[in-house]
Amino acid sequence: MPLPTLVLLHGFPLDHTIWEPQLKGLSDVADVLAPDLRGFGTDDRPVPEIMTMEDYAADVKALLNENGLERVVLGGLSMGGYVALAFAEAWPERLAGLLLVNTRGTADGEEAQRGRKDTAQRALAGGVPVIARGMVPTLLSEATRGRHPELAAEVEALIAWQRPEAVAAAARGMALRPDRHAVLGSLDVPVLVITGEHDHLMPLSTSLALQAAAAGSHLAVVPGAGHLSNLEGPEAFNAAVRTFLAGI
Ligand code: MLT
Repeated sequence: MPLPTLVLLHGFPLDHTIWEPQLKGLSDVADVLAPDLRGFGTDDRPVPEIMTMEDYAADVKALLNENGLERVVLGGLSMGGYVALAFAEAWPERLAGLLLVNTRGTADGEEAQRGRKDTAQRALAGGVPVIARGMVPTLLSEATRGRHPELAAEVEALIAWQRPEAVAAAARGMALRPDRHAVLGSLDVPVLVITGEHDHLMPLSTSLALQAAAAGSHLAVVPGAGHLSNLEGPEAFNAAVRTFLAGI
């Protein structure tokens, strides 16, 4: 039997390299594809002022079409999860499964929307390295930073080299996303929700809400991990995905 294709979408303001433990560790059970969202990492396409989650989802659909992929298991971490939900709303027939990692289905409130504007302005005016420094403690758990200081340095460097206009466009686009819990209610494919035990950006309640919205879905919590659960606890993360893929 051919292996399923697993497409993994990175979070903000990161790139496809966060999925290295999955590209290596899941290659025997899936063809793993990890694209860079527009403007991030090695993607050098022009970036408009705002990239909505629907815009990124349309890019993902174009990628599937280019590669002749009719149906895939689509996964996304945090902002990647927002994009996966936008894709699921628009093209549910292209999904064989949905993997929602350290993410949420809710829209931004007014304060969060103001914060996005501020992030966009800071990225454009002050540069991404300044944002990178402040972000690492919110992305990795205290335990991860203590045990793997090299990972903290790598994540900071990864953020720092992202293009300011890509960071600004994504921040503005996230502010516009609607609540998408209802999408999960009408979806007829297996859903796995994964989060980190110590993710303070997306507390457990957000994952429980996703799980409740998707009938029959499962929730896996990666022990000791923060917001980047796939990087912080790759063994537990990959084990959960393996079980999920085996049931598809
Ligand atoms: C992410 O990791 O993609 C971001 O934390 C998402 C967000 O800011 O809402």
